[in-house]
Amino acid sequence: MNDLIKLTNLNKSFNTLKKIKILNKISYNFKKGKIYSLMGPSGSGKSTFLNILSLIDRPSSGSIAIDNKKINFNNTKNNDVLRANKIGIIYQQDNLLPDFTSLENIYLASLAKGDKKEVSISKAKKLLKKVGLLNRSDHYPSQLSGGEKQRISIARALINDPQIILADEPTGSLDFETAKGIFDILKKQINSNRLIIFATHNRFFANKSDCILEIVNGNINTING
Ligand SMILES: Nc1ncnc2c1ncn2[C@@H]1O[C@H](COP(=O)(O)OP(=O)(O)O)[C@@H](O)[C@H]1O
Ligand SMILES: [Mg+2]
Repeated sequence: MNDLIKLTNLNKSFNTLKKIKILNKISYNFKKGKIYSLMGPSGSGKSTFLNILSLIDRPSSGSIAIDNKKINFNNTKNNDVLRANKIGIIYQQDNLLPDFTSLENIYLASLAKGDKKEVSISKAKKLLKKVGLLNRSDHYPSQLSGGEKQRISIARALINDPQIILADEPTGSLDFETAKGIFDILKKQINSNRLIIFATHNRFFANKSDCILEIVNGNINTING
């Protein structure tokens, strides 16, 4: 009943010169109210996996159900709406728009979803406060440190109050102390209705999750939880 994302026999191959199989028959249920870490060496398929969960990429075969509704990967319009409303994504590199301020970067996703401008701005300001950067609201990404940019990225990912948060090595390019701060903010976002999955190389952060998963030979091993 608490299952939020249900994966059944998920496969992903890339057809380059030679077909390479990255994800191999993954069946797994992610539950709400939990934070999961996703480990595995570079190249093991963590980003591939998260890109499929975020409905940006499609599996070669197998299925995904979110909230018991099976995803139709041909229905990209529908999936775009679902992503905008339900999924917040944070990348290793912040992906902020360089020509927009912190505040604008955060509230654009709310505008895009159809909220009024005043509502969007007010939500964005609350989030800036939450990540401790209200005094950086008019800064452009180039005027922010790496850690600050990731805090803005978290605020941006949160603006539509997503039920699912997917973070792909969000602290991967930060020093340890800064990474710890980012991780603490991310961990605070868990609630009983929400699911967070973050990819990491770092055992210290992985250990702070409710459940540690590892991609091994294209499949998911549960290390704990
Ligand atoms: N678009 C693509 N075309 C072909 N191969 C790809 C593509 N994207 C990723 N790969 C390959 O899939 C493997 C897994 O990549 P990735 O998911 O980025 O791993 P990780 O995030 O764990 O480092 C790598 O060997 C990579 O080269
Ligand atoms: Mg990756």
